[in-house]
Parts: sequence; C-alpha cells; structure tokens
Amino acid sequence: MEIFKKIVELQNALFEARKAGKKIGLVPTMGALHEGHASLVRRSMKENDLTVVSVFVNPTQFNDKNDLKNYPRTLEADCKLLEQCGADFVFAPEVEEMYPTPDTRSFEYPPVSTVMEGAHRPGHFNGVCQVVSRLFYIVRPDNAYFGEKDWQQIAVIKAMVRHLQLDVQIVECPIVRDDDGLARSSRNTLLAPNERAIAPTIYKVLKESVDYAKKHSLKETHQFVVESINAVDGLDVEYFSIVDGDTLQDVADWNDSPYIVGCITVYCGKTPIRLIDHIKYKSSGK
Ligand code: PAF
Repeated sequence: MEIFKKIVELQNALFEARKAGKKIGLVPTMGALHEGHASLVRRSMKENDLTVVSVFVNPTQFNDKNDLKNYPRTLEADCKLLEQCGADFVFAPEVEEMYPTPDTRSFEYPPVSTVMEGAHRPGHFNGVCQVVSRLFYIVRPDNAYFGEKDWQQIAVIKAMVRHLQLDVQIVECPIVRDDDGLARSSRNTLLAPNERAIAPTIYKVLKESVDYAKKHSLKETHQFVVESINAVDGLDVEYFSIVDGDTLQDVADWNDSPYIVGCITVYCGKTPIRLIDHIKYKSSGK
C-alpha cells in the first residue's frame, strides 16, 4: 500500500495505472475508519483493479468549530486497517494541499440539499460537494463508494455529479451496524460508555416503528418515534422527517409515495454527540 500526501504524486501513480488500463475505485473518508469503511474498501476492491482511499477531515463541511476540532484523527490506525483490507493507495493530504486558496464555489441542489441535514447544518453539503468534486477531479475514479448511513449525502452527491457532468459511477453501500443495531460511525468513538449504552435505542425505536406504522397514521408514527427516543434520558431528537425517498420532501400520508424513508438526527449525551440514522418504511424495490 502506498501513502500519498501530495496531489501530483498521487496523480503520477494513477496516470501509470490508467495507462495500464486499470479501473479505479475511490473511497472518500474523513478517517477514524471502522468496519463500515472497510466494507466500502472491500467492495471497491472487488469491482475495480485499483482502490484509492482518501483520508481527509474536510474543514469546509463543518459548521461548528468545536465539532471540527474534536473530530477523531487516527491516521496511523487507519493505515493499518487499510493495509489489512488490501487497499492500494491512501491519499492523506494536508488542508493546504486540498485548498491552496479558499474554495469559493457554491453548490446548491434544492430540494435534496436544503432539507434535513441541509437545513440543520448550513453550509455542510456545500463543503461536502467542494471536497468530493476536488477528489473526483484529482483521482478521476470510475467508481466512488459511499455508505448509506449518510443517505441524504448520497442524494446530494448524485445531484452534483449530474450537474458537473462527471463521468463517475456513485455506488451506494449498505449501512454496517454493531450487534446492538447502532450504525457504525466515526463519531461513536466519542461516546462515553453510558452514552454508548443508550445510543442503540435510536435504531431499536426506528425498527419498532415499522410495525407500528402498519396500524397507525404517518403523523402517529412520527410522534411514536420522537416521543419514544426523547423518553430516554440523554437522548434528544433534533429532527425526524418522514420523506419521499426520491425528492426528500416531507410526506403527509403513507399513500403519498411508493418510496418512504424516515430520517433522524439525535443528540446523545452531555457533549453532546450528533448521531444520524434512517429507516425505510416503503421501498418499492429499492
Ligand atoms: O461521509 C464522509 O465521511 C464525508 O462527508 C466525505 C464524503 C468523505 C467528504 O468529506
């Protein structure tokens, strides 16, 4: 496995690979890697000849300075995990390498980028698009792999790819969960033991709500989820939106769409740590 800090060095190596006809897969990450990331890397390795994993905590997608400061940075451990997975290239640039000058580009993809995370974290998706578009220009991957945990992020990145007419396939990969159901996330390492103990309630309630939804209205189901989670001391729902899976717009009734997803963000503990998850109520073959 080779580790690159400089764009030009990575690009020289990729030039050789492309000349040899190799198909290139990219797994963009912010590090603090876990089994969820490993599953993306393995999938990329199966479907491509060469896999690049980027490890970069992107400052432009944080709308909270403390969140950026506290975000876990574990490059050495990340490289060990990637070596075990068999990744070919790691790209771990410094901020000045990715942004030699401030990125003034603005990406807005309403409605998918303006609701839910877009509404609660102003500028977040703009920053995600800034860095992901740069990574796409630098690596020019055939395929790029993203975890479904950040379900809205995938919709925004797909909109960006269409807008910029980029020749890259976005591959959505299933959420990886711990045995108790908590979605794997780099932020989970920030949870204190008592916070880690209550965090699985989020997915437990979401799962229960699928059965509940069979006999209750959408409004009642919404209330059931929010009240059940808020009833746990230490959990505080920021938003729970039940949306059309394609437009990401709120739906009012179960019959309003063949594809309905519930998306939730919950604050956990004293710090607090922001956890996101989602559940599909109707998936129309998706
Ligand atoms: O999902 C993430 O970890 C980040 O948003 C991404 C896609 C690596 C961009 O920084």
